[in-house]
Amino acid sequence: MKLLLSLSLLSQSSFREPTSKYWLQAQETHNFIVENLLTRYNSYRVNTTDQTNTAYEWYSASQIYADAAMIEAGDTRYVPYMNNSYAWMNNMWDMSSSIGGYYSTANIDGTGSVGDKYADDNSLTGVVYLNAYDVSTGTERVNYLNSAKACANWLIYSDQWDSIYGGGFWWSTAKESKPTQTNGLALQLFLRLYQLTGEPLYRDCAYSVRDWLMKEMFDTTTGLYIWKIDGPGVGIKHTEKFTYDNAIMIEAFLLYAQIIGDYSYITKAQALGTKMNTILWNNVYRVYLFNSISKRINPAWCGWASQAMILLYLADGNTAWLDYAQQNIDYMNLKLRNSTNNGYYAFCDIDGSGVDTRHEGVDQAWMQRVQVLLSNYR
Ligand SMILES: *[C@@H]1O[C@H](CO)[C@@H](O)[C@H](O)[C@H]1NC(C)=O
Ligand SMILES: *[C@@H]1O[C@H](CO)[C@@H](O)[C@H](O)[C@H]1NC(C)=O
Ligand SMILES: *[C@@H]1O[C@H](CO)[C@@H](O)[C@H](O)[C@H]1NC(C)=O
Repeated sequence: MKLLLSLSLLSQSSFREPTSKYWLQAQETHNFIVENLLTRYNSYRVNTTDQTNTAYEWYSASQIYADAAMIEAGDTRYVPYMNNSYAWMNNMWDMSSSIGGYYSTANIDGTGSVGDKYADDNSLTGVVYLNAYDVSTGTERVNYLNSAKACANWLIYSDQWDSIYGGGFWWSTAKESKPTQTNGLALQLFLRLYQLTGEPLYRDCAYSVRDWLMKEMFDTTTGLYIWKIDGPGVGIKHTEKFTYDNAIMIEAFLLYAQIIGDYSYITKAQALGTKMNTILWNNVYRVYLFNSISKRINPAWCGWASQAMILLYLADGNTAWLDYAQQNIDYMNLKLRNSTNNGYYAFCDIDGSGVDTRHEGVDQAWMQRVQVLLSNYR
């Protein structure tokens, strides 16, 4: 097996197909976001449908992730968008608690952040900030790192991890379930902070999350990770397989291999990718399913797999992964894109019928991001 290069998408940025239509479409997607979702406060509306005055934490973080990818690709026009939305995110941080933590919802003017906090939101945001760190300089760069550490600090000290179901982070402070995605994203954040700081605490947290995921969430029958555990006592395992859960696990295992230096995790990531491409891939329409029981397609949750496939390509140089990444994106452009305003719709059935024409912010963010990533190679 050929082990190529660093797994960071960043180090690849010197090369981009100069005429890539994906690069153009990533920019068009961003234009749609600026025209339809960006507010005068530098926040993003949840959707365009009803002029909602609400912003969601993980939608905003996903947009920062998308803009970081534009900067990484060499386009500095996206720096103010990234920085300004990062500054706005302070409105969602719990200032009343010494350990902080992001709330999930706020008004677009920054008021009204209350309620539950989500461990997946805080984990994803930490990961996103480390990408922003990678493309920043000076004080701003230090700020991104400190904010990523603050997200991890909240995870560690918030009581979101306990011994129920043998360990694992709860999805939210309501403590109703422990999902794969939350824990996979926490694993990514701890690994990357360990890489940057060398602090054993982050490594030990990563080991605990990895152990729990592999013991409780891996389904040996299908070779994929299950959805979640909930309920009383030992809990009920929900064995549906979601595309983005498994994409997140591929990304986590590739980071694990690179940062801990255990290359057996490359093999684990490849095996997961192969299973995804059997069980969660539709061979007729050439797209990832939302999950193993639903035939609905969504740009963010299905598109996430394109990021994982590009990272697999970076790990082993096998261009077959890129074909999956590209065909998945091609499907979204064919079936879920409004060719007049360039916004992406929320859902359709696998044959492209039954389109739910809502324009949700998170779907735009993910389509911007995966297309700029792909434009480095296609
Ligand atoms: C738009 O987002 C808001 C969140 O504030 C949500 O309540 C509403 O249902 C969404 N609109 C549609 C049509 O989905
Ligand atoms: C964003 O960050 C960069 C450094 O990473 C800094 O030079 C710049 O002033 C910041 N603000 C804006 C609005 O670009
Ligand atoms: C596509 O976008 C155009 C321009 O905003 C709009 O008029 C049209 O209704 C949209 N189509 C659908 C199906 O939403």
